[in-house]
Amino acid sequence: MNSEQLRDAYLQFFAEKGHTIVPSDSLIPSGDPTLLLTSAGMVQFKPYYLGLAVPPNPRLASCQKCVRTTDIESVGDAQHLTFFEMLGNFSIGEYFKKEAIAWAWEFCTQRLGLAPERLWATVYLDDDEAFEHWRGVGVPAERIWRFGEEDNFWGPAGEEGPCGPCSEVHYDFGQAYGCGRDSCGPNCDCGRFVEIWNLVFTQYNQDRQGKRTPLPKPNIDTGMGLERTAAVLQGVASVYDTDLFSPLLKRVSELCGHGYGEDAALDRAMRIVVEHGRGVTFLIADGVVPTNEGRGYVLRRLLRRAATFGRTLGLDEPFLAEVAKATIDKMGHIYPELVAHRDFVLRVIQIEEERFDRALSTGLNLLDKIMAEAGRRGQKLISGAEAFTLYDTYGLPPELTAELAREQGFSVDLAQFQKEMAAQRERARAAQKFGLGEMGVAVAYEQSGIRETKFVGYERLQHSSKIIALFVGGQTVETAYQGQEAELVLEETPFYGEMGGQVGDTGEIRGPQGRMLVRDAVRPLPEAVAHRGTVVEGGLSVGDRVEAVVDRERRLDIARNHTATHLLQAALRQHLGSHVQQRGSLVAPERLRFDFTHLTGLSKEDILKVQRLVNEHIRHNHPVRSMVIPYKEALETGVIALFGEKYGDMVRAIEIGQPRVSAELCGGTHPGSTGEIGLFLIVSEGSVGAGLRRIEAVTGRGAEKLLEERLAELETLSQELIVPVVAVPEKVKSLVDELGAEKKRAQALERELAKSRAEALLGQVESVNGIAVLSARVSASSMEALRQIGDLLRDRLGSGVIVLGAVYNDRPNFLALVTPDLVARGLNAAEIVRKVAQVTGGGGGGRPNLAQAGGKDKGKLEEALGQVSHIIKGL
Ligand code: SER
Repeated sequence: MNSEQLRDAYLQFFAEKGHTIVPSDSLIPSGDPTLLLTSAGMVQFKPYYLGLAVPPNPRLASCQKCVRTTDIESVGDAQHLTFFEMLGNFSIGEYFKKEAIAWAWEFCTQRLGLAPERLWATVYLDDDEAFEHWRGVGVPAERIWRFGEEDNFWGPAGEEGPCGPCSEVHYDFGQAYGCGRDSCGPNCDCGRFVEIWNLVFTQYNQDRQGKRTPLPKPNIDTGMGLERTAAVLQGVASVYDTDLFSPLLKRVSELCGHGYGEDAALDRAMRIVVEHGRGVTFLIADGVVPTNEGRGYVLRRLLRRAATFGRTLGLDEPFLAEVAKATIDKMGHIYPELVAHRDFVLRVIQIEEERFDRALSTGLNLLDKIMAEAGRRGQKLISGAEAFTLYDTYGLPPELTAELAREQGFSVDLAQFQKEMAAQRERARAAQKFGLGEMGVAVAYEQSGIRETKFVGYERLQHSSKIIALFVGGQTVETAYQGQEAELVLEETPFYGEMGGQVGDTGEIRGPQGRMLVRDAVRPLPEAVAHRGTVVEGGLSVGDRVEAVVDRERRLDIARNHTATHLLQAALRQHLGSHVQQRGSLVAPERLRFDFTHLTGLSKEDILKVQRLVNEHIRHNHPVRSMVIPYKEALETGVIALFGEKYGDMVRAIEIGQPRVSAELCGGTHPGSTGEIGLFLIVSEGSVGAGLRRIEAVTGRGAEKLLEERLAELETLSQELIVPVVAVPEKVKSLVDELGAEKKRAQALERELAKSRAEALLGQVESVNGIAVLSARVSASSMEALRQIGDLLRDRLGSGVIVLGAVYNDRPNFLALVTPDLVARGLNAAEIVRKVAQVTGGGGGGRPNLAQAGGKDKGKLEEALGQVSHIIKGL
């Protein structure tokens, strides 16, 4: 039976026993934050066991992909794996030990055809019940062994969760494979016995303190190792000799030119390469990317360990993508995510492996040197600081360093290494606290030896440069991958970083392995530009040579608005006077905003005049020149500097026109001449504080768009009014007049209507203690309308109390009126209305003669009004 038939047979068998087949969950546990990676079939069912969710069927079965890293250093021997598949059947509070054991036996002996005498069982120390069930299916007592917590208690997966005593099925390869000791049996490490199936009797929930409480009901959670069982079925002692690994080993064989089975040391390296290569493929397909912590670090460790052992096979070029391809070919039809993310998987592997490769030779050489020197001193110890350098600079995971060192009889001071790491983390935390702020970039500069990001964007919008730092989630990273939001620092950039009111550029950064869309460019330091955006393809790494490309159209829009801002300032000073000073500005692609000192609002004529002046300067097509001159000279020649701003010795000035129309100190970007601005239109003018005005305006494409929109609106209007465009204002005026007359007529009608309604209500007046009282529900849509009816009624009544109720805005509302004679006798409208509104759960108030209230429950309106005479009697 090959692995595929085994998978099918298992799921088929349990489907026949009434189980629902559930697909494998992702390796990133979907609902368990306590767990780094999915490590067992039961992980996705945790909420069912805990009674937090109800399963679609209490009987479930699955084939789950799993990763466990506890044994990572044993990978390379015949049995250990980090990535494996687990076949499992699960009972959520339904069947228990008897069925689980009977079906395990039936499946092994009937479906798989394993010889019964080859099967042994283990049970938890005092679990006589399980013992008896195994006896019941026919296992002789001497082949049922008892073990303690260590071997026969399982769980929880993660820091807390379901767990329980368990019972295992072990397969006996036969005496020929064994150590021959009398004590040899299940759990002996000689290789004769292999555990193929674990049946957990999940009865407890264990909390983080280790305290166990019984679960709502006893459950079953079983896990059969697919690879081990395949080995048993295929009559081989090692999982690596099964059909699952043979195509992968074959591929590695082809690549390195060594046959598998020729040499023990090479075999071990080949097993590590295919095992880790396979795991890496699955991890990346589920969305894990290499990082320095958490699941990303598990991935990184696997990948680097595989790459390092590849070296020992003579694989000097990156090769792991080939192992990934073989994995996808072998498993892709069972795990479609491998096929769906094939390109991404290969890309990530390639980038990570190449980066690691570059440093690896140096790192390995350094390790050799360190060991040679220590050896000369008669020591067999690698210091924590040395291990840290190997890790931090050359990417050698400390576990790998220790493993490589051990092969030469050396050990590593891992305690000291941890101290170095802690110090490093502290530094990183400090940098992280500031995001890609001053700290982050300062650290990045320090590490790269560069002082500033050179801006080349005055002359060019595309430029080739090198990545000197990358940040993801406020942390420095070596590589940012597809889908990640990243901040990127270049040696030189054509991107303008937001400054002096001009917004940052957008565009694209293209690297050898990927592409980033730049959404914004900012300045964490005055001399630094950070590009913010999303990696949309592959990955970008520190050190990559990239092509930085600014969105040209957008940049030109911004430049037009910037020059127009200078012209606007010149025009304002010319028209309003030289007291006009810039106080702030925004230069964006769609519009510009200019704040300036001036005491009064600008008239329509002022605005038109200023707009015309600017447009004249545009039509003149003045040259726009930039120059770098001494600050002193700039001031002497009348260049405008920003009030309160600090400038260096040398400054950049923008001069428009010859003779000069405008000259300002400015770091921004501008077109070559004013004609490029096209057209300038002021959109609004207003106050933004005492003595401070703000003008908003558009130019170029923005002005064109505004005109198009306005003209289209006018065109629509003329069509709807059926008059030519020139006649629209006249037509609108006559329509407005007509509407006014119409409205007056409608109001008069409404008043008439209210009067006759009030008239009708007068019939409902009753006498309470000699006082005329009227309480009624009326229809009104506002307090204003209620007031109108109330006033009418009061005038008609002469003396009395009126309480009106109406529902509007989905709530009950009340109005109470008391005539002056009754106010004089002590009646109070506010008091009355408050009591009435209380019935509907509300409150209100007002004056003694007129008060209003709102309630909550509109269903109680009638009841409340019914209380009025009662309330008045009680006063
Ligand atoms: N959860 C148990 C295990 O992982 C059985 O599925 O071994």
